[in-house]
Amino acid sequence: MSSLFKGGRIPSTRSDVVDFISSLPSDERLLSSVIEINMAHVVMMVEEGIIPRSVGVQLLKALQGVQEEVKPRRGVEDVHVAVEEAVIGKVGVEVGGNLHMGKSRNDQVSAAIRMELRRSLLQIMGEIVALQEAILLQAQSHVETIIPGFTHLQPAQPTTLGHYLLAHVDGLDRSLERLVEAYFRVNLSPMGAGALAATSFPINRERVAELLGFDGLLENSIDAVGSRDFILEVLAALSILAVDLSRFAEDLILWSSPGFGIIDLPDEFCSTSSIMPQKKNPDVLEVVRARMANILGDFLSSATIMKALPSSYNLDLQEVTPHLWSSIDELSSTLPILAELVRNLGVREAPNPALWDFITSTELANMLVRKCGVPFRTSHRIVGALIRHLAQNGLSIHDITPEMIRRVARQIDSSLTINISVEDIQESISLSGFVRSHRVRGGPSPTEVRRMINTRLKRLTRRKRLLQRLEKRLMEARERLRRAVESQMEGLQGGPQTSG
Ligand code: ARG
Repeated sequence: MSSLFKGGRIPSTRSDVVDFISSLPSDERLLSSVIEINMAHVVMMVEEGIIPRSVGVQLLKALQGVQEEVKPRRGVEDVHVAVEEAVIGKVGVEVGGNLHMGKSRNDQVSAAIRMELRRSLLQIMGEIVALQEAILLQAQSHVETIIPGFTHLQPAQPTTLGHYLLAHVDGLDRSLERLVEAYFRVNLSPMGAGALAATSFPINRERVAELLGFDGLLENSIDAVGSRDFILEVLAALSILAVDLSRFAEDLILWSSPGFGIIDLPDEFCSTSSIMPQKKNPDVLEVVRARMANILGDFLSSATIMKALPSSYNLDLQEVTPHLWSSIDELSSTLPILAELVRNLGVREAPNPALWDFITSTELANMLVRKCGVPFRTSHRIVGALIRHLAQNGLSIHDITPEMIRRVARQIDSSLTINISVEDIQESISLSGFVRSHRVRGGPSPTEVRRMINTRLKRLTRRKRLLQRLEKRLMEARERLRRAVESQMEGLQGGPQTSG
C-alpha cells in the first residue's frame, strides 16, 4: 500500500491485491502529463491565493525533478499516487501534502489521458497523411494503367490503377476528418471536477485548462470524471480506419496472386515458404489484415466495459485506457509500413487475360442505345444473350460481328432491326476507349483522375497545415506552462501575486 493512505480508512492492504488493481504498468505514458497537470494546478493555486507562494515554489521544484525519480515499483496503485509520494518524499508532508488540494485522481486521470491522446492523435493523423501522399504518388504514375474493376469480385468494368488508388485516398481522408473532429472533443479539460462534485476551494479551472493547452472545459463535474466517450469516439474512428486498411490490404493480396496478376508486391515486403521454393507470400499485408481486427476488439472491449457502469467514476474506467493505447500503437506501426509498401508497389505486365473477358459489355449495350435508339433495358438483354452465346461457344468479345448482334436482337424481338458497323463494335469494346469515355465527375478517365489528384494534393497541403497548427498550439501551451512555473519560482512577473 502506498504510504499516502496508510492509517486511514483502510489500515493496510495486501501487496498482491495492490499489484492486482494497479494501473502503473500502463500509466507510464501518462507520467509527463500527470507532472504537467500537477504543475499547472500548483501555479493556479498560488495565483488564486489558495496556497502561499513559498509552498507553491517548493512543490514546483519538487515536481521538476520528479520525472526521473518515479520508478514503476510494486505496491503503488497508479502514477498519480507515485508522483504525489515522490513529491512528499522530497519536501515532506507539511508542504507536499498540499499538492492534492482541490483535485482528485478522477479528474487528473481523464486530463492525463486526454493530453497523451492528443499527442498520439497528431501522430496517427500525420501518418495517415503520409500514407495518402504515398498512394497519391502511385496514383500519379498510374493514371493510364488500365486494370479490371470488380464487383462481387467478378470482373465488372475497366478502370485505372490511379482511379482505384484515389478511392482509398478519399476513404482515408474521411478517417482523418473523423479524427480531427474527435481531437477537438478530446482536447477539453476535466481538471477541477475533483472526485465528482468539484471543490470548495476557489480554484480557477479556466486557468489550468489554458496552462495545459486545452481548448476549453468539460464543464459538468460528473460528466468530466465519469465520461470516456472521447475514448469510444476515437476507437470508433480508428476502427473505421482499420476496416479500410484491412480492405486495402485484401485488394493488394488478391491482386498480387497469379490468378489476378495485377500488381507486383515489393520482395522485401514478402517472404517465401520453408518448403515450396517458388513462393512469394504477402506477409506484411496479411499481418496488417489480421491486426486490424485487434482495433475492433479494443473498441468492443471498451464499450462493453462501459455499457453498464453507474455514472461518474468507477475503477472499471481504468481498464479501458490500455485498449486505447494498444489501438494507437497498432495503427502507428501499421500506417508507416503500409506507406512504405505502397511507395514500392509495382505493376504486372498484364493481368490474367480471363479478367478482361466481356468486361466492356456495358459499353456495348450503351452503344446500341446511342446508335439504334433501343431502350437500355432492351440493349442490356441483347448484349446479355450475346455474351451467353459467346461463352457457350468458347468465343470472346472480339468475335462479335454486326450480323451476330442482329440475329440475337431479332430472337429477342422480331421487330428490332439493329444496324451497326464493325467499327462501332470495335470502338465500344476497346479498353482504353471505355476508360477515356467515362469522364463524368469522379470517373476513371485520365483527365478526370488527374484533376482529382490535383484537388487531393491541395487538400493534403491543407491537412498538413492544420496538423502543424495543432502541434504548434501544444508547443505554445508547454511554453506557457514553463514560463508560468518559472515566473513563480523567480518571484517575477506572472499571475496575480498573493500571500506567501
Ligand atoms: N488509476 C486510475 C485510473 O487509471 C485512477 C485512480 C482513480 N482511483 C480511484 N480510486 N478513484 O483510472
